[in-house]
Amino acid sequence: MEWRDVNPMHTSRREFVTAAALLGSAAAVRPALAQAPSADPSTPADGGRAARPLEILILGGTIFLGPAIVDAAKRRGHKVTLFNRGKHNPEWFPELEKLRGDRDPDKGEGLKALAGRKWDAVIDDCGYFPRHVKASAELLAPNVGHYTFISTISTYASSEVEGADESAPLATMADPTLEEFGKSFEYYGPLKVLCEQAAEAAFPQRTCVIRPGFIVGPKDTTDRFTYWPVRVVRGDDMLAPGSPTDPVQVIDVRDLGEFAVLAAEKALTGRFNACGPGETLTMGKLIESCNRSAGATAKPVWVTPEFLNAQARPGDGGIPIWVEYGGESKGFHTWSNKRAVDAGLRFRSIDDTVAATLAWWYEQPAERRAKLRAGLTAEAESRILEAWAKEKTG
Ligand SMILES: NC(=O)c1ccc[n+]([C@@H]2O[C@H](COP(=O)([O-])OP(=O)(O)OC[C@H]3O[C@@H](n4cnc5c(N)ncnc54)[C@H](OP(=O)(O)O)[C@@H]3O)[C@@H](O)[C@H]2O)c1
Repeated sequence: MEWRDVNPMHTSRREFVTAAALLGSAAAVRPALAQAPSADPSTPADGGRAARPLEILILGGTIFLGPAIVDAAKRRGHKVTLFNRGKHNPEWFPELEKLRGDRDPDKGEGLKALAGRKWDAVIDDCGYFPRHVKASAELLAPNVGHYTFISTISTYASSEVEGADESAPLATMADPTLEEFGKSFEYYGPLKVLCEQAAEAAFPQRTCVIRPGFIVGPKDTTDRFTYWPVRVVRGDDMLAPGSPTDPVQVIDVRDLGEFAVLAAEKALTGRFNACGPGETLTMGKLIESCNRSAGATAKPVWVTPEFLNAQARPGDGGIPIWVEYGGESKGFHTWSNKRAVDAGLRFRSIDDTVAATLAWWYEQPAERRAKLRAGLTAEAESRILEAWAKEKTG
């Protein structure tokens, strides 16, 4: 067992393919009807309303990133429509128009609710299978100006190289018609690559692809990041993985929401890694930030990856967010975000993210807080810390 929690963010070494070959599929003709929204000189970072309010369709919108996009769009004065099945949090955003249907055009009413409707921009937050993205993008292309597709850094074939940018080789899969993520989410990244291409093919020169790393902050359903501030509040000696200098990249969901709206406003095109925060973050700094924000004094005990791997048992819970800094995952937390920053991506501080995550956590009902969905169990942590102390003294 490895000390990397199973999550759709994990990329392992995959077959390399050139980015140029992947870009090739986007060469189609721009439909005459639809125009991308013209560039807006103001930005969400200005804090103000957009110079030109847009009509924005969000595919998805009601779990984690979606609500942050909705909030950012509303703050900027845009008119938002949501399209989803109405299964998750249908009571949220009573003020918005809600269209019901399914990303799968062959399921139920499929995409019928979108037919014939016009929007300035669409933000696709829940595209996982290329057939679904192709269907929505092709249907919307004649009537919508611009398509933003929320992708992932799991699209890259490898995370070995430090500081890699959007030109890094992309992941591939043998059977592109598969519609499942695989046992260890090994198809999640390659499927997202194909989704990106489907959007770009339907909206040539009118597509923005956003590739976030770990998205964190309030409403995160995974508890991967939440584990750290919550664990710090418990105090005492605390198992800390690897070394305090191991790099960490996370993006606050609120920063990402603003960037998605900025992409629509500025009609950004191309691919953008969306990894934060603005400051250079490490595991040591993250734990310091958790202590500071929570007013806690947990003392990290740094345990080597080799020892952790030797101690791991099924049911221990894993160590979220951290990824071993070395070997084929050396670049996992070091993606270049320069292109997105140059385009206007802005970051709040990690202290702000930690504080907001904890504040949200304490607002949750007791049943939700009874058990974190990620992270080491208290028993596993004590067992490993005891063994580590023996190793050090023995
Ligand atoms: N979390 C991370 O760390 C991370 C990292 C990198 C990239 N990402 C990407 O970030 C995006 C955000 O995910 P999120 O869950 O936070 O987004 P979200 O927009 O907040 O929630 C997902 C939405 O999709 C809708 N939906 C799901 N299946 C659907 C279907 N078949 N037809 C119609 N609507 C459907 C859901 O509503 P209903 O269920 O009611 O239909 C819900 O509104 C994803 O694209 C993910 O790949 C996430």
